[in-house]
Amino acid sequence: MKATATAPANIAFIKYWGKKDDELRLPINSSISMNLSEAHTTTTVEFKWGLKQDQVIFLGDENSSKLTRPLLFGRNYESKEALRVIKHLDRFRKIAKLNLKAEVVTRNNFPRSTGVASSASGFAALTVAAASALGLKLSEKELTIFARLGSGSACRSIPDGFVIWEAGKSSETSFAQSLYPESYWDLCDILVIVKTSAKKVSSTVGMELAKTSPFFTSRLLSLPLRIEKVRTALKKKNFRLLGETIEEECVNMHAVMMTQTPPLFYWNGATLEIIKAVREWREGMLPVYFTVDAGPNVHLICESKYQDVVLNKVKQIKDIERIIVNKPASGTHLVYKHLF
Ligand code: DP6
Repeated sequence: MKATATAPANIAFIKYWGKKDDELRLPINSSISMNLSEAHTTTTVEFKWGLKQDQVIFLGDENSSKLTRPLLFGRNYESKEALRVIKHLDRFRKIAKLNLKAEVVTRNNFPRSTGVASSASGFAALTVAAASALGLKLSEKELTIFARLGSGSACRSIPDGFVIWEAGKSSETSFAQSLYPESYWDLCDILVIVKTSAKKVSSTVGMELAKTSPFFTSRLLSLPLRIEKVRTALKKKNFRLLGETIEEECVNMHAVMMTQTPPLFYWNGATLEIIKAVREWREGMLPVYFTVDAGPNVHLICESKYQDVVLNKVKQIKDIERIIVNKPASGTHLVYKHLF
């Protein structure tokens, strides 16, 4: 009753911002993303007889010191994240009809302090590990539905490569599936992590207020066309159409965020500086586009042949903490090396 899974984070080309059902995490609109090869979470789950409570341990990033036995019992019961994990375990206990408590140990390969969202990779890894530890034979579609209940964007980290999450009308019809495998298109996501001291408002809390923006309705009206454009761009490998559409989508979502009540400003000075630079590089014929999720970090999307040129240019910008170069990645899979 023990299993370990590794799941990639993903970057949304068409964003999820607004739910029609908070409890079921049913999104108002469909979204499209790409899995990231160099930002992932690994999670081990073990259901055990004799445990009085669930134990959840968040380890530092992969480069921090190795897990030692005593650390296993150092969990923080108060943490909101741990409670969200326990709630997710309850969903599995319910369908397995088994009331065993579990030990969960989870580790990202990127430092938590960088502000890279870990809920997508975190709940995708937890879903696949918990289902396997309980011997549940779930289809990929069912796994995406479970992952969605933990964190919406997590459902897109389960299938391979380029993924669509169909909004659906009910829990059963709101699931994610692969559009194309990771090898389909040699794209590159240069994730630029900027220096920041701002306190982050979580996406869960932030998107509860999406509907208070006067632009939200017009965003919804404009989405079907953008979704179609991203699908066409992927199908035809039309990089310019992809780039132009994902930038438009990013700015559209952030305009909603900035006009919510109260307004939500995820961008900082460095974010804007990078955005401005990208637009200048494009005037100089360098095909690279930006997108930003719920934070100040900027994802630069380009074809791999331009990766080095873009990297050299990014490195000259100030207030950058770290750069992570990602390729499209496969989805969530079991691994046979446990974390404890
Ligand atoms: C801006 O999936 O983190 O990154 O379902 O409440 O856990 P919850 O939200 P989450 O939201 C992600 C928002 C986003 C856009 C996206 O990834 O589509």
